Amino acid sequence: MAKLDILWVPDPILKTKCAPVTVIDDALRVFLDDMLDTMYAAPGIGLAAPQVGRAERFLVLDVSDDKSAPLKLINPEIVDVADEDAVYEEGCLSIPEHYAEVTRPAWVKVAYTDETGAAREITADGLLAVCLQHEMDHLDGIVFLDHLSALKRNIITRKMVKAKKARTRDAAA
Ligand code: NI
Repeated sequence: MAKLDILWVPDPILKTKCAPVTVIDDALRVFLDDMLDTMYAAPGIGLAAPQVGRAERFLVLDVSDDKSAPLKLINPEIVDVADEDAVYEEGCLSIPEHYAEVTRPAWVKVAYTDETGAAREITADGLLAVCLQHEMDHLDGIVFLDHLSALKRNIITRKMVKAKKARTRDAAA
């Protein structure tokens, strides 16, 4: 088990439209487990591959209180969404200490491949629906800031530029 480095906004990898996964092998399964460990340690409820430097379409999440419901989704696709919206205050491990309300469809149905290569579907509402949509956005180079007004996005982005400089300085010290 390894803890991975989480990239912070702004970073070009977080803006990248990720490539589909073509091979599901032991190396990918180990990496998915490392992502889960990294997410739990952060702590967070979701983590997408580009956040740990891999511009590929896979992600992990667990919205339970006790780490009892880990999910690993490879090449996820939204196949149906609610007509009605829900608003939720979101955060992101790539934008630490910033939160904002985001409006999204209240439920989603997602088709994906699991870590054994089996085709699966999940229908989710509530926090799981929010988390699925947030993490799948990452695979298209979208972060929750992109759902906000330009004003709010610019304010948080400027603060993140400063936070990243401080992080780099601390790492070098
Ligand atoms: Ni995020």
